[in-house]
Amino acid sequence: MKFLVAAIILCSLSLEVTGFVESIYQFGDSLNDVGNAILLPTIGPTLPAARPPYGESLPGKKPTGRWSDGLLIVDRIAELLNVPLLPPYLSNPNGPFPNGVNFAVAGAAALNFSVLSSQGIRPLFPVPGLQDQIGWFKSYLSTQCSTFTDCCSYLSSSLFVIGEIGVNDINSAITSGKTYQEIMEFVPLVVNATLQAIRDVIALGARKIAVAGNLPIGCQQFTMLDYNNSAAAGPYDADGCLQNPNKIATYLNQLLVSGIFNLTVDFPGVKVVYLNYYDAFQGLVQIPAAFGFDPKTVFQPCCGNGVLSDADVFCGGAEAALCGDPDEFISWDGYHLTQAAYSKIAEYLTLPVLSAAL
Ligand SMILES: *[C@@H]1O[C@H](CO)[C@@H](O)[C@H](O)[C@H]1NC(C)=O
Ligand SMILES: *[C@@H]1O[C@H](CO)[C@@H](O)[C@H](O)[C@H]1NC(C)=O
Ligand SMILES: *[C@@H]1O[C@H](CO)[C@@H](O)[C@H](O)[C@H]1NC(C)=O
Ligand SMILES: *[C@@H]1O[C@H](CO)[C@@H](O)[C@H](O)[C@H]1NC(C)=O
Repeated sequence: MKFLVAAIILCSLSLEVTGFVESIYQFGDSLNDVGNAILLPTIGPTLPAARPPYGESLPGKKPTGRWSDGLLIVDRIAELLNVPLLPPYLSNPNGPFPNGVNFAVAGAAALNFSVLSSQGIRPLFPVPGLQDQIGWFKSYLSTQCSTFTDCCSYLSSSLFVIGEIGVNDINSAITSGKTYQEIMEFVPLVVNATLQAIRDVIALGARKIAVAGNLPIGCQQFTMLDYNNSAAAGPYDADGCLQNPNKIATYLNQLLVSGIFNLTVDFPGVKVVYLNYYDAFQGLVQIPAAFGFDPKTVFQPCCGNGVLSDADVFCGGAEAALCGDPDEFISWDGYHLTQAAYSKIAEYLTLPVLSAAL
């Protein structure tokens, strides 16, 4: 009997991970933005995520700038590692951030605007990109440590989470009229920019890094409805997803995995792991009922109908319908996922996150 009790206590203790990392630094786009975009001058307060029903499932139903009804993957990673939820960097750019900070900005691209425009691509969103976020980190770090050795020691128990990033580069290429073939040739640039950001944080002292790949972007209802007539779209698959955007995301992820492998060879003292958002999402849509989701609304968003070009029906607009129970939906607004879906994805990613954090 005593043994049984001990075993039960050990089992519940093992769910709480202590001593892995003390701080987390997140870089990326709207999938992990916890409030930076809505703090941007001028455009910030006009963004849908600044208004209800964003934040619908949070205490007080308060919009926080998260592009969901509730918590995001990075929030769940913080909970898993017993680190307080990260504040958005723009809420207090001077810090200090004893438990890390979140630099992700909704709409951020991996490539900067000069590179995008040299490719004939108009960026969809005029917001700070991945290089800007690395710049913010650099300037914050310089207030905390000075030499490389100092900074290494300052960051010795820090986890870096990079991504998801790149979907805004791809979507900008699609809306700029690029063909499927042109976008496939463009993908290595996007991946190289992401790998460069990883090399940048390694050069600053990062030792524990998790890198998230892309979701199946052809299965987001927004893409399925709004991009179906674009030069890059291609046919629908049996699930109703656009095949070419999924092939583009798959190729991007393959290159990213190859690049991560190369980094582990180049930097044997640094841990770099891959977070497979793509497979996690596919798992949810293939057997939705097993995860508590309604199989009839696998791609249908809980809020609005997901067509950005019609502002009235995108979530956050006055006429956008809201579902009864967000926990039964995978998609929140046709572009971002619900808290319930993000939680399941984060659970799927537990092992790689722990192996990066250890
Ligand atoms: C844009 O990125 C390229 C490639 O990393 C870099 O050479 C260039 O300096 C950047 N330009 C700006 C304006 O940041
Ligand atoms: C991306 O980086 C790899 C490895 O550094 C290099 O071989 C390749 O030419 C780069 N691709 C592009 C499109 O810049
Ligand atoms: C694109 O989606 C719209 C909205 O669902 C639909 O009416 C239209 O037929 C689709 N176009 C193609 C080429 O499938
Ligand atoms: C990884 O390294 C191999 C061998 O040098 C190279 O062929 C490949 O392009 C690299 N991958 C990336 C994504 O840079």
